[in-house]
Amino acid sequence: MNSDVKIFKDKQVLADVVTDDLRNSLRNQTGNFRLALAGGSTPRTIYEQWATIRDNSLWSKVHFFWGDERCVPPDDRDSNYKMAYDSVLSKIKISDNQIHRIHGEANPEVEVLRYANEIKEHFRMTSSFPQFDWILLGIGTDGHTLSLFPNSEALKEQSSICVVSQHPQTGQKRISLTLPVISNAQKITFLVIGQEKAQVVHGILTSNGKSVNYPAAQISPKSGILQWYLDEAAARLL
Ligand code: 6PG
Repeated sequence: MNSDVKIFKDKQVLADVVTDDLRNSLRNQTGNFRLALAGGSTPRTIYEQWATIRDNSLWSKVHFFWGDERCVPPDDRDSNYKMAYDSVLSKIKISDNQIHRIHGEANPEVEVLRYANEIKEHFRMTSSFPQFDWILLGIGTDGHTLSLFPNSEALKEQSSICVVSQHPQTGQKRISLTLPVISNAQKITFLVIGQEKAQVVHGILTSNGKSVNYPAAQISPKSGILQWYLDEAAARLL
């Protein structure tokens, strides 16, 4: 697996670099830039830094998707959409049709089909899976990514674009992109901050993560690049 691992002093330096990456990608992009956002708490600092990009001509290219969503309303504190809206979407000039949120408030079995259709229509797909320009990912201490948890049926899904899953501890229903969609992306970047993630990062990057059944270790880019952006705390066991 061609993984590119970069280690940064702290989360603000990491956020600055991801912002530079986004700005440069958009400058070089002709046409739409399809971006799938990570959820959880890690990306907040990064998305807040994105709000410093003031060139509306760059933002006009971006179509925001979500890698996963909790099945809660969009104004719920648990919503990945709300986190992104509060951090950056509410601070930049973009039109509603650039935002492709997962409807966490809907029936999950209905929404999983609707979101997949929205993706198919947007990408005018000719192959089985969309190719996102950039998919951002977080990772849990159990090695889950998006809402693909260890030993879950959702993780095994190889034909659908997205899937209904459930948090193993809380039982919270989730909608998540599937492994083949992630692996089909042009660029996949894990954003990992904090010492509590050091063990799982070590387990994946220094040994065959598959041996400890980490879902994140099963991501293998078909043709794109896989990056790990870590702060020093998350990288301390490397
Ligand atoms: C979610 C994410 C999930 C997250 C990890 C890490 O919806 O929660 O998709 O995969 O990235 O659980 O979460 P933290 O960034 O909060 O540690």
